Amino acid sequence: MALSTKPYKGARDFYPEDKRLQTYLFSTIRKTVAKFGYEEYDAPILEPLELYLAKTGDEIVNEQTYVFTDRGDREVVIRPEMTPTVSRMVAARRQELPFPVRWFSIPNLWRYERPQRGRLREHWQLNVDLFGVAGLEAEHELIVVVDEIFKAFKAKHDMYEIKLNNRKLVDHFLLDYLGLDSVQAHSVGKLIDRKNKMSEAMFEAQADAILTPSQREAGVLNKLLGVMKIKKLSHLPEDLREHDSAKDLQKMLDLLAASGITNAHYDPTLMRGFDYYTGIVFEVFDTNPENNRAMLGGGRYDGLVGLFGVEPVPTVGFGWGDVTLQNFLETHELLPPKKTPVDVYVVMLDLNLYEKAQKTIASLRSMGMNVAVDMTGRKADKQIKSADKQAIAFALFIGAKELEEGVFNLKNLHTGHEEAHSIERIVTMIKDHRRK
Ligand code: HAM
Repeated sequence: MALSTKPYKGARDFYPEDKRLQTYLFSTIRKTVAKFGYEEYDAPILEPLELYLAKTGDEIVNEQTYVFTDRGDREVVIRPEMTPTVSRMVAARRQELPFPVRWFSIPNLWRYERPQRGRLREHWQLNVDLFGVAGLEAEHELIVVVDEIFKAFKAKHDMYEIKLNNRKLVDHFLLDYLGLDSVQAHSVGKLIDRKNKMSEAMFEAQADAILTPSQREAGVLNKLLGVMKIKKLSHLPEDLREHDSAKDLQKMLDLLAASGITNAHYDPTLMRGFDYYTGIVFEVFDTNPENNRAMLGGGRYDGLVGLFGVEPVPTVGFGWGDVTLQNFLETHELLPPKKTPVDVYVVMLDLNLYEKAQKTIASLRSMGMNVAVDMTGRKADKQIKSADKQAIAFALFIGAKELEEGVFNLKNLHTGHEEAHSIERIVTMIKDHRRK
């Protein structure tokens, strides 16, 4: 049987046109985060298993990691996320780093998930993290960064919404307001995290199953369901509304509004899967229901760096996957037209002139042209066809007469128009065309 040409399940091959798109996405992102002073870092794709056992959240470690034992009997994980790694890196240089530290990366991550729209097994994830700021200014800056990235892709505010919650408010709600013990609170928290993936009835039944008879009698389930429906901080029961964590959320919304970000709102069902979050958490969703998974998510995690035995560092960050970004841009027709990086295709009218033609070809490149040379020796029309298939805009013909006179026919393959010019003039014409 012939070998399959398909890539591994849930992973993608990047053919040049796919890679070109990825490069465009990442370079737009890189330019935008640089405006805020974020610097790129990287790390190995493999990490020791212990790194994730500490505080990543059960589902990821138990069900979604690619784990193997290496030849030296070490348990190794292919990174499912970047947050433990970047925390390790900051902890290693805790003493010498100039805080606040602003770092970003775009690692490829692996999670053993069921491949579906917006979720694959390998994805690339922009991680932007700010270390060393305890105040809300940190969360504010990161959401402004998110907003700027959307702007860089020409997205409008009505195309996405930012949901916010606060882990401290969730804790106060579950432990004090509902009166759950810590084990119950953890279970209900995980259940809320999955709420949007199940029916109302299923959510109710599973929540009810976590409660004790006396809690049921006291109407805890109804209190829980009531709060889950709330869409505004001001509609929360007074005890929750007056809690410092709710006030922080209101301040956050005010700060965002001051930056012109009005598509953010409080969502009591927003949990974020990971156990390491300690304060404000956020997720961004496409307003088009075709893309129903979170595009990006993040929040404050003040405890991770300290796990490495150094003094803790208050931290906020987010992760934004390339799959959800691409789906979003496609849905809203914001992807740029596919364009080849080749400016001009050299059609060799006689391959025996290959050596003689080198000077001309080199001079095109030295003047900033991306030049692909057809050295197949095929007939000219076959060479042109190949250029056309690649959507290259210009073909330049090189033959004995052309080399002698220093004048070359340049054909615009989009319009069919052909004219003879000097190399200098040709370069100017192609540069003009590029700018359009
Ligand atoms: P996360 O919510 O697991 O957070 O992932 C963040 C984003 O990465 C998601 O919203 C989604 O866009 C993308 N993503 C996650 N899993 C997949 C997948 N299987 N396929 C495609 N895209 C995916 C984190 O990973 C946190 N470590 C983010 C963070 C950074 N928090 C603080 N700093």
